[in-house]
Amino acid sequence: MAAPKILIPFYSRTGTVEALALAVAEGARSAGAEVRLRRAREVVSPEIIASVPGWKQSAEAMNAKYEAPTADDAVWADGVIFGTPTRFGSMTSELKAYIDSLGGLWAEGKLNGKAGSAFAGSSQMHGGNESTVISLWNPLAHLGFIIVPTGYADGVMFAGAGSPYGASVISGHPPAGPSEAEIAVARFQGRRVTQVAAKLMAAA
Ligand SMILES: Cc1cc2nc3c(=O)[nH]c(=O)nc-3n(C[C@H](O)[C@H](O)[C@H](O)COP(=O)(O)O)c2cc1C
Repeated sequence: MAAPKILIPFYSRTGTVEALALAVAEGARSAGAEVRLRRAREVVSPEIIASVPGWKQSAEAMNAKYEAPTADDAVWADGVIFGTPTRFGSMTSELKAYIDSLGGLWAEGKLNGKAGSAFAGSSQMHGGNESTVISLWNPLAHLGFIIVPTGYADGVMFAGAGSPYGASVISGHPPAGPSEAEIAVARFQGRRVTQVAAKLMAAA
């Protein structure tokens, strides 16, 4: 059977969710996946970006490393693992803009039956990581994804990091991390979604 193809579209402004995305990719590859890592692009005006110290520079540095996610990437994938920082307990507008660009695929049912999963970052321990992952499950359901949570399906889930909904990073302020335990959950999520995608491919 062909290797499962895993797309990881993420948004990150200061690098912590990027680090988690890299760990998810590592886990997916370790389970045999071919991986595409993509960074959602800014959607606010240059004036707003310029008003936040370092935003322009970090966006340019990350955009030089990662292509923007496209609808074709989602069609290509057997599984999609979305990653986002928390914005007031929900996903970023940047990642949401990518999801909203998939409306044509929704109309054609092109994403039906693919594995879908989500991970998040927040600055506070109770700052909304879990609700942010679950906020991603809403559009995943509409798009027809088979939603894959991390559950307590591996020993790494008992080390006090992540959540049964998906991997997470608690970055603090200024942002730092992720910890080794948070990285371990992210790697597990990459492995698990790859394994589920392979089973869905075999069953199709
Ligand atoms: C507009 C805005 C809203 C935010 N809302 C929350 C929040 O509700 N809870 C929280 O813990 N952190 C919140 N944060 C902090 C970010 O989620 C945190 O810095 C982020 O996860 C860092 O990810 P990154 O380094 O990948 O950009 C917010 C940040 C911004 C800019």
